Amino acid sequence: MLPMLSCPQCAEALTEVGDSVVGCPGGHRFDVARQGYLSLLGSRSRTDTGDSADMVAARGQFLGAGHYGVIARAVAERAAAGPVLEIGAGTAYYLAAAVDAVVSPDAVPTAVTIGLALDSSRYAARRAAAAHPRIGSVVADAWSALPVLTGAAATVLSVFAPRDPAEVARVLAPGGRLVAVTPQPDHLVEIRGPLHMLTVDEGKPERLAAAFSGWLRVVDRADVRAEMRVTRTDVGALVLMGPSARHVQASELAANLDTFEDQTAVTLAVTISVLER
Ligand SMILES: C[S@@+](CC[C@H](N)C(=O)[O-])C[C@H]1O[C@@H](n2cnc3c(N)ncnc32)[C@H](O)[C@@H]1O
Ligand SMILES: [Zn+2]
Repeated sequence: MLPMLSCPQCAEALTEVGDSVVGCPGGHRFDVARQGYLSLLGSRSRTDTGDSADMVAARGQFLGAGHYGVIARAVAERAAAGPVLEIGAGTAYYLAAAVDAVVSPDAVPTAVTIGLALDSSRYAARRAAAAHPRIGSVVADAWSALPVLTGAAATVLSVFAPRDPAEVARVLAPGGRLVAVTPQPDHLVEIRGPLHMLTVDEGKPERLAAAFSGWLRVVDRADVRAEMRVTRTDVGALVLMGPSARHVQASELAANLDTFEDQTAVTLAVTISVLER
């Protein structure tokens, strides 16, 4: 993944300078963690909004049950080419699907990293590093300058995650595209109220288009809707993988979960926007 990356301190290209150490010509050095991810944090990078270990575990559990597979397929279909960069990648669930869609089946299996997962949570980065043989994983802050070379990505994914329009546009190659997923107002509506889940306004599609105007143009927009049949355990994971996890008491959550049947119908409702540079 090094040919895609830049130094978070001075934006110069990075090369391998030692055993599990990369660096730039200016002398800045960064270690590859034992778990396979690279930390590229600059002096102004923030990591406090990154997911905790428990949130990442809950996310891995819920996504592993396959309920959001319909979103992953819709995202992967719209990833035009590699390299693919996912910002706020979490466990790299969507990135792995996109990489499989853009790699030709007869390519040499692990010769080139074609997916780059970027997240400010080291727990997420650890999972992303193991998600797929063609994915490289980096700890970085989506709200600082991205440690990615200008024009290095053919596709950028942003799924329920932070995105800085100027930086997304900078790292995209000319003609490259952003595939972004935003929730619709009735996404998870059956469980939001009873479980006191925070409604975080991750941005309506119109707000997304407005934020990117001047950088990227919306070329396609599609709604993905489904009725999920989820277990009580899945419902608990949905709460614990999101921002409500930071506020909920375990005892209160357990009591509220008891009011749900073991099979509950929950609405999945998201919009997938494709924007081109
Ligand atoms: C709602 S999760 C979505 C993860 C993944 N895209 C998915 O849908 O499974 C948001 C992700 O953004 C990450 N995140 C939060 N603040 C961030 C920041 N400033 N820079 C990079 N990642 C951040 C969190 O650690 C978390 O993995
Ligand atoms: Zn440097």
